[in-house]
Amino acid sequence: MAKRLFEELGLVNTREMFKKAMAGKYAVPAYNFNNMEQLQAIIGGCAESRSPVILQVSSGARKYANQIMLRHMAKGAIEMCREDLGSSIPVALHLDHGDTFELCQSCIESGFSSVMIDGSHHPFEKNIELTRQVVEYAHKYDVTVEGELGVLAGIEDDVQAEHSNYTDPNEVEDFVKKTGVDSLAISIGTSHGAYKFKLKPGESVPPLRFDILEEVEKRLPGFPIVLHGASSVVQEYVAMINKYGGKMGDAVGVPEDQLRRAAGSAVCKINIDSDGRLVVTAIIRKVLAENPSEFDPRKYMGPARDELKKMIIAKNTNVLGSAGNA
Ligand code: G3H
Ligand code: 13P
Ligand code: ZN
Repeated sequence: MAKRLFEELGLVNTREMFKKAMAGKYAVPAYNFNNMEQLQAIIGGCAESRSPVILQVSSGARKYANQIMLRHMAKGAIEMCREDLGSSIPVALHLDHGDTFELCQSCIESGFSSVMIDGSHHPFEKNIELTRQVVEYAHKYDVTVEGELGVLAGIEDDVQAEHSNYTDPNEVEDFVKKTGVDSLAISIGTSHGAYKFKLKPGESVPPLRFDILEEVEKRLPGFPIVLHGASSVVQEYVAMINKYGGKMGDAVGVPEDQLRRAAGSAVCKINIDSDGRLVVTAIIRKVLAENPSEFDPRKYMGPARDELKKMIIAKNTNVLGSAGNA
């Protein structure tokens, strides 16, 4: 095997993380980040709750923060964790929704320990071909690969889908066998963003399709499953955004009890981005509305970071069950 580039940055791949999560019946959190404050909150929150963590970078985040900067940020976060916070937790750096072989290759070359190749919008055979190509390359460096079958509604990076297309359990065995992926993202009713369900007055959020998940588990015993679009869209923060000048009318997410149930199954990785965005926006709006003359970014980014860290500890402890498993 070629050199594990990610080891130099202090990262691990997801293989051992998922094995432990499967045995311990919890899910490893995968939090997206784009800037320093988000990263500090994620690492700080996971160190304090003793949780393994997957740091996720979308191709949009990569453009925003710069590939070289990201690599050093991840390395810095791990060092900060060890030296300043006195804690060492397993950290993976993962490409979220990679859409081409070249993008995955570039991330692997710059030290990512895990990549997702999202071929879910392609026909089945093309998805297999693309995913297998990435797996063959990634495994040379011991980088783990997540594939996807089934399409989530909402925005998947730059691709927007109107309707979800649930994963067909009849396809999963063939896909995993032919591609060699290490984990599989499936579509069972979650979706990306802050507006996951269109509810009429009096209606409640429809349950996730646990029947599909159970079928998938039967076909792939002990295989790590991934849930995207798993933010709960915490109403406290939506209300705060609306109170302080925002406009997020019908924002609604996946109820926490459903995520807890999923985390106790073969779901080993749960992706959360929107909830972090909501916290940061809510706090910044509040601080600036209450202190209109404030212009020092530390005065509003700092409280936003503190609140995000609190949310991460709460998720790890009460929803994913990953706390205490580092
Ligand atoms: O699944 C999408 C993630 O939330 C990343 O979003 O492409 O806006 O960075 P982004
Ligand atoms: P949310 O929009 O529900 O946070 O989902 C994030 C995600 O799936 C990133 O890949
Ligand atoms: Zn996603």
